[in-house]
Amino acid sequence: MGTLVNKRILLGVTGGIAAYKSADLVRRLRDAGAEVRVVMTRAAAEFITPLTLQTLSGHPVHQHLLDARSEAAMDHIELARWADVVLVAPASANLIAKLAHGRADDLLSTVCLATAAPLALAPAMNRQMWDNAATQTNLATLKQHGAHVFGPAAGAQACGEVGRGRMLEPAELVALTTELFATGVLHGLNVVVTAGPTWEAIDPVRGISNRSSGKMGYAVAQAAAEAGARVTLISGPTALTPPERVQTLRVTSAQDMYDAVHAHINDADIFIGVAAVADYRPARVATDKIKKHADRMTLDLVKTPDILASVAALKDAPFTVGFAAETADLEAQARAKLSAKGVDLIAANRVGAGALGFESDTNTLLLIDASGVTALPELHKSQLARRLIQYIANLYNKTNKVGLQNLHVKTKNTAQDPRRAHRP
Ligand code: PMT
Repeated sequence: MGTLVNKRILLGVTGGIAAYKSADLVRRLRDAGAEVRVVMTRAAAEFITPLTLQTLSGHPVHQHLLDARSEAAMDHIELARWADVVLVAPASANLIAKLAHGRADDLLSTVCLATAAPLALAPAMNRQMWDNAATQTNLATLKQHGAHVFGPAAGAQACGEVGRGRMLEPAELVALTTELFATGVLHGLNVVVTAGPTWEAIDPVRGISNRSSGKMGYAVAQAAAEAGARVTLISGPTALTPPERVQTLRVTSAQDMYDAVHAHINDADIFIGVAAVADYRPARVATDKIKKHADRMTLDLVKTPDILASVAALKDAPFTVGFAAETADLEAQARAKLSAKGVDLIAANRVGAGALGFESDTNTLLLIDASGVTALPELHKSQLARRLIQYIANLYNKTNKVGLQNLHVKTKNTAQDPRRAHRP
């Protein structure tokens, strides 16, 4: 079973009697952990009040395209980018027809056209309208364009007729929406992810650390779990809640992280080093708080172990992915790290003044491996993490020249493990 924790669902509501069920749907999506924003058409507001959906979603309902007030709060392009999934429930025959023809004459159709997120439609209409060849052709077009169609169910309709056209029940829609996130591309694999900063103590109250919040690493761990992997997340000090269905281990220093990684790496098929690990630590940790006497003081620092390079150098190394945080010459520096650390893939991001990377909710990544360079655009870290996991799964399959679906038995630590064919 998947989860909707931390998922951003943009719920479109169109005009139809089933719109009354959208209130229950919002509540259930939120109960499953999702953040929900609602876009209503003019006709939908004839069936259910925006205030009801605003109260249940906890956010103002978006109704009008180019409305100065709501555009100022979150414009239609921002809404389209914000969504992990756009779910339209109920989806009327009119909305389906508009989307099939790429029309954008109101807020909902514009957001559906402008989003890169998966689009799911829960049709609800009279059975004749459903059976109409025009509706079926429109749906076939939308499916061809990648839209998911949930339902409809058959049964008694509000108009008194009996047949197909009833919107699926909210609980069914929540389950189907959840399944959209469960890609299964890493099904059955063991993945170890590091995240967050490390803390290198100077004395009992001071230390050296960095600005990593852990958001990127936690998002990667969550995306790997949604892709079907068994995930161990080894996290430096962060304020984040551990992702669901991920074994999370808390560590403090680079040495702690190194020890924890090597205690779990034996079973790993993939290692992803997202943590911002300190490169140096104080040579000695003072047992008592250092007093302020001298005008100047010098800290003697020694190198920490390089966790990523040590994993890549293992005889039976997993598929190894590193991150590179650079303030300049992103691609060149990342390429240098790819070969210096002997890893399979580097995900490089810009950090420092004016850049994303550290702490922010969004990021951009440059993926560099032997086959070339792929740029991922600015996205929420959870969306970026899902793209990264998909990329890793593709590369992992290609590198090992064997489809994961053919691997019925986990063969780690056997000489014949086909997934390790690329290793000398
Ligand atoms: O946590 P957030 O606020 O969301 O920020 C995300 C991030 C900016 C921290 C993340 O996207 C990122 O770039 N992580 C890598 C940060 C880093 O330490 O980069 P680096 O270029 O210094 O290190 C290269 C690689 O070597 C990294 O995979 C790092 O985990 C690894 N490393 C570095 C030093 C060390 N002693 N051991 C290591 O394993």
